[in-house]
Amino acid sequence: MRQLIDDISFVEGEMTDQVKVLSDSGTGKGRKLYIESYGCQMNFSDSEIVASILRNEGFDTTSDPNQADVVFLNTCSIRDKAEQTVRNRLSQINALKNKKPELLVGVLGCMAERLKTNLLEEEKIVDLVAGPDAYRDLPRLISQVDEGERAVNTFLSKEETYADIAPVRLNSNGVTAFISIMRGCDNMCSFCVVPFTRGRERSRDPQSIINEARTLFENGYREVTLLGQNVDSYKWSPEENNKGLLERKGINQVINFAQLLGLVAQIHPDLRVRFSTSHPKDITDEVLFTMARHENICKYIHLPVQSGNSRILELMNRGYSRQWYLEKIKRIREILGEDCGISSDMITGFCSETEAEHRETLSLMDEVVFDFAYMFHYSERPGTLAARKLTDDVPIEVKKKRLNKIINKQNEHSLLRNKQAVGKVHKVLIEGESKRSADYLQGRNSANKVIVFPKENFEKGQYVYVRVHDCTAATLFGKVVS
Ligand code: SAH
Ligand code: SF4
Ligand code: F3S
Repeated sequence: MRQLIDDISFVEGEMTDQVKVLSDSGTGKGRKLYIESYGCQMNFSDSEIVASILRNEGFDTTSDPNQADVVFLNTCSIRDKAEQTVRNRLSQINALKNKKPELLVGVLGCMAERLKTNLLEEEKIVDLVAGPDAYRDLPRLISQVDEGERAVNTFLSKEETYADIAPVRLNSNGVTAFISIMRGCDNMCSFCVVPFTRGRERSRDPQSIINEARTLFENGYREVTLLGQNVDSYKWSPEENNKGLLERKGINQVINFAQLLGLVAQIHPDLRVRFSTSHPKDITDEVLFTMARHENICKYIHLPVQSGNSRILELMNRGYSRQWYLEKIKRIREILGEDCGISSDMITGFCSETEAEHRETLSLMDEVVFDFAYMFHYSERPGTLAARKLTDDVPIEVKKKRLNKIINKQNEHSLLRNKQAVGKVHKVLIEGESKRSADYLQGRNSANKVIVFPKENFEKGQYVYVRVHDCTAATLFGKVVS
């Protein structure tokens, strides 16, 4: 057990630039598509939509770029480092293309949207550029490249939600799945590039969300995570979102996020429901009470604070103050109890942040004691409000020093929160084998904590009750109780 504990990595400081590759599938006869995804869960989810659109065109997917006829990188622009990672990867793909000139190389996602035709002109190896709302156009864009032209579509839509496209669940554990419920973002946080790369916020037809969740459940899945940049502003109305359709089957009333959550939770008591991301200015008591009412809505909220200082929050255009945030935390604890998991995102060294203001982030962390956090130092993004109106004046060494401070504090807090879970029995949905040992299984409790326990005769997809006897800052260890 000691070995196992030592092996499991500690709380990550800076979110590692995640890469996800879709696995092999198909008839073995079609052209082969290789997709690599970067950035957030919404991007990973979009890659499954892309695979679905191209599967209908006869494409198979492959997990080996060397076998591919088409290579797509689904990219992220959130920080400069994310874009650099993609640029490095493009150079490697370039080497592949030198060996195989007919290889079609495309850039999708947020970097495609941000850089548009620049990518075709600067990076000579790119044949195709498609923004996040242009994926239905991929078959046409690919034909255009086949005819010897370069192809680009970075049109941002006000309506596209890909509601009718069933994503292909490649690379899945068969137990947990993500469902996009909205696209885009109408908040203008001054540091953030997302409103520029993903366009206006729009909500997806609730009936299509419920249908997708129900189909997943019928296929053995036991957990869905509803995804959006700001799920609390989900709002769908038959008049606005369904213009021109006089009659339709399904829901015919205005639906907000709390109502959507309730509807998905009612599909089956054994289907767990999670969601991400919540915005402190928009999360309502109605959402919290809906969570409390349904056992299967997981008691975990990702509520990014960004900074603990009200002046910085205002410069960030976040729409709340330190006090407002702390009130929200109090409400969560009142309605959902102390065991509800709460995590956050934080940025250090935003424009003009002083040492005293940075210490307010630390003191807010002490007041809340987050279970987990993604932490970053500020990276100026071209075109954002902050890039245009504010000066990126905190030296990089200072940003990094402050980042280290908050990472260290978060590690202490993660350990503290995990210790509070020791000695208790937790309901766990088994997701599969532990990453480090085939003799152990792993799953998560309602509060999103990873729990590792001896395999015995249990299987993934089952719910078990586990008594936790040990922990690190990242993982709980226990044994199933009958
Ligand atoms: N919609 C989510 C955030 C999506 S981006 C929300 O509002 O919370 C994920 C995280 O990346 C953000 O919460 C923020 O902490 C971080 N981030 C965004 N832009 C950044 C930038 N320019 N520099 C550093 N971190 C940034
Ligand atoms: Fe970016 Fe703010 Fe929208 Fe989140 S809410 S995606 S941080 S603009
Ligand atoms: Fe990155 Fe775009 Fe997501 S910028 S974080 S991939 S919305």
